[in-house]
Amino acid sequence: MPIWVHKIDWEIRKFHGDEYSTHRGSSYNSYLIKEDKVALIDTVWKPFAKEFVGNLAKEIDLNKIDYIIANHAESDHSGALPELMRLIPDTPIYCTKNGVKSLKGHYHQDWNFHTVKTGDKLSLGNKELVFVEAPMLHWPDSMFCYLTEDNILFSNDAFGQHYASEYMFNDLVDQNELSVECIKYYANILTPFSPMVIKKIKEVLSFNLPLDMICTSHGIIWRDKPEQIVEKYMTWADSYQENQITIIYDTMWNGTRVMAEKIAEGIKLSDKVVNVKLFNLAKTDKNDVITEIFKSKAILVGSPTINRGVLVSVAGMMEEIKGLKFKNKKAAAFGCYGWSGESTKIISQNLQSAGFELVDDGLKVLWNPSNESIIQCTEYGESFASSI
Ligand code: FEO
Repeated sequence: MPIWVHKIDWEIRKFHGDEYSTHRGSSYNSYLIKEDKVALIDTVWKPFAKEFVGNLAKEIDLNKIDYIIANHAESDHSGALPELMRLIPDTPIYCTKNGVKSLKGHYHQDWNFHTVKTGDKLSLGNKELVFVEAPMLHWPDSMFCYLTEDNILFSNDAFGQHYASEYMFNDLVDQNELSVECIKYYANILTPFSPMVIKKIKEVLSFNLPLDMICTSHGIIWRDKPEQIVEKYMTWADSYQENQITIIYDTMWNGTRVMAEKIAEGIKLSDKVVNVKLFNLAKTDKNDVITEIFKSKAILVGSPTINRGVLVSVAGMMEEIKGLKFKNKKAAAFGCYGWSGESTKIISQNLQSAGFELVDDGLKVLWNPSNESIIQCTEYGESFASSI
C-alpha cells in the first residue's frame, strides 16, 4: 500500500492567493509507492518543501526513488520539486506534455521529463501505474494515475476537499463537514469544467477497473465506498440545483436590504417549500456564497446605484459568476436608487452574459422603499417565485 507523505496545513485560511477560503484548513497529499521500483506521486506546497523532503527521507533513501509522478504542476503539488530535485537531480519525472510546459514555466528547470498519455503504463514490479490524462480537471496538464493490484486511483485535485484532518479516511471524519467541503470545492473550482467532468468519469468507468480507493491530493482518502464521490461529481456536473432561491445583495443605507427581505417574504408567500437564503455580499465569504449559488435554481442580485454603477462587492461577484459558467439557473436584479438608477440594468446584463436566464428586467425602487414600494417588492417576490 502507498505511504501517505502529506502535509496537513491547519493554518491556511486563504488558498490560491486570496481566492478560495479554507475555513477548515487543507492538506497537500503525496504518496510513496514502494514496490520493486519506487514511485513518488506529487509533492507539497513550497513553504513545506524542506519539511516534506525531510519526512520523505525518513521513509526512504531518496536515491532509491526511481520515478516521480507529477499529476499536476500547480505549485501546491509541485512546490517541493526544486528541493527534491536538488538532491536527486536525474530522477525521471513522469507527467503530461502540458505538465512539462507547466513545470518548466514554474521552475525554469530542464529536469529529466518523460511525457505520458492515457493508457501508458509504468511497471513497478508486480504492480503497474496506468496514466489517464485529465485535461481541464482542472488545468490543461492535470492527470490521474491508477495503481493495479491495489486498485487505487490517484486523482490529484479531483474528488478532493480543502479539509485538514488527522484522520486519513473518509469514513472516519465528520460526514457533514466533509460534505460541505466537497460541494464547496466542486462549486468553486470545478463548475466551469463540468462537461469535461462527465466525459472523463464516463471514460474512466468504461475501463472497468476495480476501485478500492481514491487518493486525492487534498483532504481525506476515499476508502469507504469511493464511488460515492464519483456519483456526486456526476450529479453536480449535470446542471445541479436544489429547491433553493438565493438572494445576494449589498446595501448602503439599508434600502436594498429592505428590498431583499421583502422580496424573500413574497417568495415565501408564493412557495412555502422553497429554501430562500439571503446574503449581504459585503459581509459574507464569497466562496460560501458561490456554493449557495451553485445549489440554487434561481438567484436575485441586488445593489443600489453608485456612480452610475453597482457596489464593488456585487461587481466582484458578477465577475466570479461570469467565469464559473453556471447552467440552468434563472435570475433577476433589484436595487434602490436616488437619481440615475443604472444598477438593475447593469446587473441584468451581467447575469445574462454569465449564462443565467433572466426572468424579467428586475425591480428598481426610488429612494428608501416606501410602504407602497414595500408592497411592490413583496408582489415582485411572489411573481418571481411563480415564474421559476
Ligand atoms: Fe491543488 Fe490545482 O492544485
